[in-house]
Amino acid sequence: MDRIIVRGGERLEGTIPIGGAKNSVLKLMAATTLAEGDYLFHNVPRISDVAWMAELLETMGMTVGWVGDHDLSIGHGPDLVPEAPYELVEKMRASIVVLGPLLARYGRATVAMPGGDDFGSRPIDMHLQSLEDLGAVIEAEHGNIVASTDGLRGAAILLEFPSVGATENALMAAVLAKGTTTIDNAAREPEIADLAALLNRMGGNVVGAGTSTITIEGADRLEAVEHTVVPDRIEAASYLAAVGVAGGEVILEGARHDHMAILCQKLGQMGMRISPDTNGIWAMCRKRLTSIDISTLPYPGLATDYLPLCVAMLAAADGVGIVTENLFAGRFKYVDELARMGADIRTESHHAVVRGVDRLSGAPVRCHDIRAGAALLVAGLGAEGETVLSDVHHIDRGYDDIVAKLSAVGASIVRRDD
Ligand code: EPU
Repeated sequence: MDRIIVRGGERLEGTIPIGGAKNSVLKLMAATTLAEGDYLFHNVPRISDVAWMAELLETMGMTVGWVGDHDLSIGHGPDLVPEAPYELVEKMRASIVVLGPLLARYGRATVAMPGGDDFGSRPIDMHLQSLEDLGAVIEAEHGNIVASTDGLRGAAILLEFPSVGATENALMAAVLAKGTTTIDNAAREPEIADLAALLNRMGGNVVGAGTSTITIEGADRLEAVEHTVVPDRIEAASYLAAVGVAGGEVILEGARHDHMAILCQKLGQMGMRISPDTNGIWAMCRKRLTSIDISTLPYPGLATDYLPLCVAMLAAADGVGIVTENLFAGRFKYVDELARMGADIRTESHHAVVRGVDRLSGAPVRCHDIRAGAALLVAGLGAEGETVLSDVHHIDRGYDDIVAKLSAVGASIVRRDD
């Protein structure tokens, strides 16, 4: 049993360090398959998704190890086994991003087909289509995607939707393709720009990452480099939500306000004060939050990953908020757990109506996924009495030592693994 026990009612005061972004570092690690040599990544969070990606790279023949607290070294020679087995892909869907770079570097790749998850069905059709546009032949065999090519060629890729994963797979394949590739309707997340920065440092030629059109001039070969991971805007958002619910004043050290401007604006409308600070982001909340309506959109819109946190905030805010989830229709499972804490939330398809109650009451609750777990933890910080979160291994996938970070700013929180 892995549990986190939170006692609500303590204000948060102090500085919280923000680590490197999970959703960047996993892709940066995948990009190391593109060129042999020795890499060093700084600002890497110690989370289980990073450990699983490391295990996947090791299975292929790489050496991965921690150098300092948050520095990760990765090294390999020219011969890798371009395969991602089901045992690892099943644990972490993000493993699918090795497909594009392996195909580009080795001309073939076998990656287990990821299944659905707690958000519902998670198709990868756009990943596969964009690789086919670049000249890949893709077949499905015994639950695996088997991709091969006699040489990728630059192409005009038009994504139906700005999918983060599809943009990354196409980008990492195109960087070694012959000629020019354009990716239109590309995802614009800061993590995509971080990946492009790494690829350029490796000798790639990528222009426009962070906008809707990315142009890639294929390189003949790339080389291993050193890189610092962009800060995790979702981790930072989780601590903003914690301050919103518990009250207090914090500095989120290393966080980038410009990467989360719309969220900061929304939280401002709810009554928080948030501004960029020389060290990161400053945030204060001295009163009960006011409800607002929220809907998720691809970046720079409000990220789907913020939504469970926002719902936790609305659950005890003053008024009624209507919430719309436009990316993953099935992403409302945590609502039933919040209801166990006294929240008044009604869901209908991809909408939820959240009627704020005066105060949530602590209860035993179960984490279903990373962000849902973080949202329940946040709710517990404002609730009356004790909240006991179980299945907190989900939180461990994306949060580096959340208990220590919150406890250092005054939260009453402990972890029990027994
Ligand atoms: N989609 C398709 N076909 C595809 C790809 C995506 O229909 O080929 C759909 C998805 O079903 C979804 C939408 O497009 O409705 C967006 O999916 P996207 O591909 O952008 O998501 P992802 O790359 O699978 C990443 C993050 C998620 C985050 C989403 C959206 C990683 C490892 N994961 O997933 O983060 O919610 O982008 O921003 O980067 C998390 O960190 O907890 C997490 C789930």
